[in-house]
Amino acid sequence: MALVGCGSAAPAISISNQQLSERVDTSDDWIRSRTGIGARRIASADEPLTELASRAARAALDHAGWAPGDLDLILLATSSPDDLFGTAPRVQGALGAMNAVAFDLTAACSGFLFALITAAQYIATGAVRRSLVIGADQLSRWLDWNDRRTCVLFGDGAAAVAVEACPVSETGLLGFRMRSDGSRYACLTLAQTDGRETLLPGVSTQKGGFAPIFMNGQEVYKFAVREVPQLLGEVLAATGTPADQVDWLLLHQANQRILDAVADRFAVPHERVLSNLAHYGNTSAATIPLMLDEAVRDGRIQPGQLLASSGFGAGLSWGAALLRWDGPRG
Ligand code: UT7
Repeated sequence: MALVGCGSAAPAISISNQQLSERVDTSDDWIRSRTGIGARRIASADEPLTELASRAARAALDHAGWAPGDLDLILLATSSPDDLFGTAPRVQGALGAMNAVAFDLTAACSGFLFALITAAQYIATGAVRRSLVIGADQLSRWLDWNDRRTCVLFGDGAAAVAVEACPVSETGLLGFRMRSDGSRYACLTLAQTDGRETLLPGVSTQKGGFAPIFMNGQEVYKFAVREVPQLLGEVLAATGTPADQVDWLLLHQANQRILDAVADRFAVPHERVLSNLAHYGNTSAATIPLMLDEAVRDGRIQPGQLLASSGFGAGLSWGAALLRWDGPRG
């Protein structure tokens, strides 16, 4: 599988830390020093996830030089769909990609990496030739805007990567690992509420609905700084790649302190750690492709370069991959 195009989309509205501090008891100083976040984009009430994801997808198609009809598979990694039955088909419809099968994949902040690895498996079997892997989230829908422990962290965004079949020797997915630990699910949840409805005397059903995002920040922080370097180290060892051969660390953007801790563990200079937390905050499944797209378009990431990537978050789930960016085919 080769990575041959990317694109992204973010809502126009940007909310600064200062603005948030007018709503909840927080400060620019606290948010910046603890997380590196300076602002986040927030989708308006008229901006569904489908629209953001479709804009990102079109940009990736244009970048790769593909027509919508070229696509065989669209994977949408999201935890905040417009429709619990699936939002990927809506994106497929909006693109007019009528030859593609489209479905959602939910693995919170690991979702994009899990979806990219999933697409690679379909490509490896020959079932799929061209795929768009989209990471898109609109967690602003599910935040308690009065809970300063969570509402300052997240933002909305979408980004997509175009991947296609290539000779095995030229693959852009050099190695990967994926992990889940459901015994620690309670650290970070966007969970069904326990509302009930009486159907008949003696028969009650659950009433659909979700509680706002809850996070035990310290537990998730400890999990991230322990597990991410461990898994990334396994991928580097398995592929025989010394850390100094990695061009960029492309990690899930949750906290600048986590990015720095992982970089220090591998002695990667901080200027080779990609970060856009200052402008977007944590956009969940979108962070990795959003960062990739920014760094490809501003010329930091060049064709042929190696990217050590890791996604981590609710589930708990985490994954790591060593990627090579190819860029659009001549
Ligand atoms: O994307 C999924 C993966 N997510 C992550 O990786 C997130 C991992 N966790 C973190 O990044 C950090 O734990 C946070 C940024 C969420 C929190 O940072 P922290 O340094 O762990 O802070 P804390 O939770 O220990 O809170 C320290 C203090 C508390 O006050 P007391 O109890 O010491 O008086 C909090 O009440 O900071 C307080 N606090 C705030 N103060 C101002 C918590 N949130 C805020 C806030 N503004 N927004």
